[in-house]
Amino acid sequence: MVCCITILFYLVYFDDEEIHRKNCRFKMTISHNLDPSLFNSSTTAEKVMRDVDLTNKVALVTGGNTGIGESTVEALYSHHAHVIIASRNVEKSEQVAKEIESRHPNSKGKCTCLSLDLLSFTTVKSFVQELKDNNLLALDLVIFNAGLFSNSFIKTEDGYERTIAANHLGHFLLLMELLPHLKARADQLPKDEKVRIVIVSSGAHKIVKNKQQVIDSFRDEKKFSYFGNYGISKFLNLMTAVVLAKKLKQSNIDNIIVNSIHPGWIATDLARDWNSALVGFINFLGSAFRKTPSQGASTTLTCAVAPELHNVSGGYFEDCQEKSLTGYTKTASICGDFEEFWNLSEKYTNTKYPF
Ligand SMILES: NC(=O)c1ccc[n+]([C@@H]2O[C@H](COP(=O)([O-])OP(=O)(O)OC[C@H]3O[C@@H](n4cnc5c(N)ncnc54)[C@H](OP(=O)(O)O)[C@@H]3O)[C@@H](O)[C@H]2O)c1
Repeated sequence: MVCCITILFYLVYFDDEEIHRKNCRFKMTISHNLDPSLFNSSTTAEKVMRDVDLTNKVALVTGGNTGIGESTVEALYSHHAHVIIASRNVEKSEQVAKEIESRHPNSKGKCTCLSLDLLSFTTVKSFVQELKDNNLLALDLVIFNAGLFSNSFIKTEDGYERTIAANHLGHFLLLMELLPHLKARADQLPKDEKVRIVIVSSGAHKIVKNKQQVIDSFRDEKKFSYFGNYGISKFLNLMTAVVLAKKLKQSNIDNIIVNSIHPGWIATDLARDWNSALVGFINFLGSAFRKTPSQGASTTLTCAVAPELHNVSGGYFEDCQEKSLTGYTKTASICGDFEEFWNLSEKYTNTKYPF
């Protein structure tokens, strides 16, 4: 087990480093200027949010009741946003919201806690209905942050592997259901403002080496591995941002931007299904590399609020900076495999947005 984790860590952090450096020469689209002395691996949420005022802005954060999501919610709320915290454990969300509100008594923001289970398509649709019933569909910011890292193969009620279902298919369906409303909201905004979507992926996406690996991951128990499926779900998160950005551009929708991010390594409850002694040991081994939850939220927040990224869509960010895609991810983004995975996701969630 420890060996597998070491390999995963190697793949995520080192494997593509050399390829990445070579690919940088071909990268043509990074045209923004995020000052590296301000936006880097140690940047905190507070630093990104300095001078940001989100009064009258509504933000949705999935999985906002703990970990990186909680830090993201706190940063947005403390800068006056109305934040919708969407996760399964609403009681926990309410407790967290109360604590955040008490830490920022001067905020003009608000926290609303709603129930969302990304493992069930029916529940995702009920969640959107609840947003509608509460007049909360005019969203300015959507942060797909929730995630799980299952330690065994379990199929959801819709027939898909649990990690892929929660991390990718549930979010994909939610995105499809929200898109018409995001478009309507974006059309109401002044020219210098856009609806922003941030999808929390992971460096673990680099574990994907070929197309079949992705296709098998949705339902095939024999091909299941916990690391593999987690990495594939994060690859599909990144794919969603890239393809959505392309589709929006092709449809001349330039008032919605979408980017994906890797938050870094943060000690959270993500591996809660795992043996706690093992998780403790891994966290001990990785203590030199780990970020704080506030540093973990900073890349998400950069994509959510940085004025420098006003015209950036379809990018992948780590340590608050845009990075080139590498390895099979880069190939898949160019050769049409990403579009195939998008079409597969539409088919499995039985949704289609008419771009
Ligand atoms: N921690 C890291 O080192 C790291 C590294 C790379 C990427 N990430 C990514 O960062 C994101 C946040 O992870 P984290 O580390 O902060 O994990 P975490 O502390 O375990 O938080 C996960 C959040 O997701 C929610 N969630 C889990 N399953 C859900 C479901 N079926 N439906 C709705 N919400 C669900 C949880 O709330 P409920 O249980 O109440 O639903 C919780 O709020 C994830 O996407 C993860 O893949 C983390």
